Amino acid sequence: MDADIRFFEVGPRDGLQNESRVLSCDERVAMIEGLVKAGVRDVEIGSFVHPRWVPQMAQTDEVARQIRREEGVRYWALVPNLKGLERAAAADVRHVAVFMSATEAHNQSNLNRSLDESLAALKRTTEAAVAQGMVVRAYISTVFGCPFEGDVDFERVLEIGEELLANGAEHLSLGDTIGAGTPLQVADGCGQAVERFGVDRVALHLHDTQGLAVASALLAYQAGVRLFDGAVGGMGGCPYAPGAAGNLASEDLVNLMLSMGARVETSLDGLCEVTDWLSEQVGLTTRSRYYPYWRSQ
Ligand code: HMG
Ligand code: MG
Repeated sequence: MDADIRFFEVGPRDGLQNESRVLSCDERVAMIEGLVKAGVRDVEIGSFVHPRWVPQMAQTDEVARQIRREEGVRYWALVPNLKGLERAAAADVRHVAVFMSATEAHNQSNLNRSLDESLAALKRTTEAAVAQGMVVRAYISTVFGCPFEGDVDFERVLEIGEELLANGAEHLSLGDTIGAGTPLQVADGCGQAVERFGVDRVALHLHDTQGLAVASALLAYQAGVRLFDGAVGGMGGCPYAPGAAGNLASEDLVNLMLSMGARVETSLDGLCEVTDWLSEQVGLTTRSRYYPYWRSQ
């Protein structure tokens, strides 16, 4: 079916990277396969960052080797540098996501690099990935507010975005890392990004710190965004951003889009089944609004 919105599932990476319980390799594989069964076509399976920095993601190499790959599904992994890219290539991951912040202090905290150093590192990593025939997504974090620096100049975000796309990234994902954006601010920023880069090159990545993520997604949709990130069960958060809460839950996002009459490839029931498994079998605390309602039906 032709979809009106594209949905990008980050739960197996962003959703799990901040959990105190480290999932086993088998649990991570089961989660990814459950999401694909639910019709997810873009899934971030983990990250190849330093295992000391994010122990929850230490076994991504093994996860990548174990998952049964389905035709038409893009399996992504987050890579911070060339070393991460090497690990991705060795595990046969062909879709990689590079990342940096819009603000100096969060970039330093998350990547141990200045913005200029990260711009150079992302250029090297993106070009090396593209040269191997890989597809690259580029995240910009703290686009609507930084835990250390407060307000962010959105023009600066657009300039960084321009540079990351020029390096060869397929698209950007605009990260509201600590859920600081108001819906009007998110819609305004997203509208500018879509106008400047085109609808296929802009994704929105919301964290639901203030309970405004669904409202922000709705206004962003009206402002032209058609590619949205979500984490099943509303899990997630950046371990190096104080105050970061879970991502906008995939099922809340898909439910919102269906309520707007949009066509979405991912099954709402299928997503809720994964949340149910995470909650009942794995024992994680899930945070979506729609899942408890689904269970009560
Ligand atoms: P560093 O300490 O500066 O690393 O950390 P380094 O370059 O100095 O290297 C030190 C050692 O680490 C070396 O080993 C390297 O080989 C090794 P040694 O020579 O000492 O034996 N190393 C690695 N090992 C495995 N995998 C690698 C790797 N790179 C170097 N990839 C580094 C720099 C980038 C590694 C570190 O800061 C890091 O791993 N940061 C990742 C933090 C992270 O994962 N944050 C969460 C994800 S981002 C996010 O959540 C935001 C997002 O969701 C969007 C949003 O919400 O806004 C995407
Ligand atoms: Mg995030």
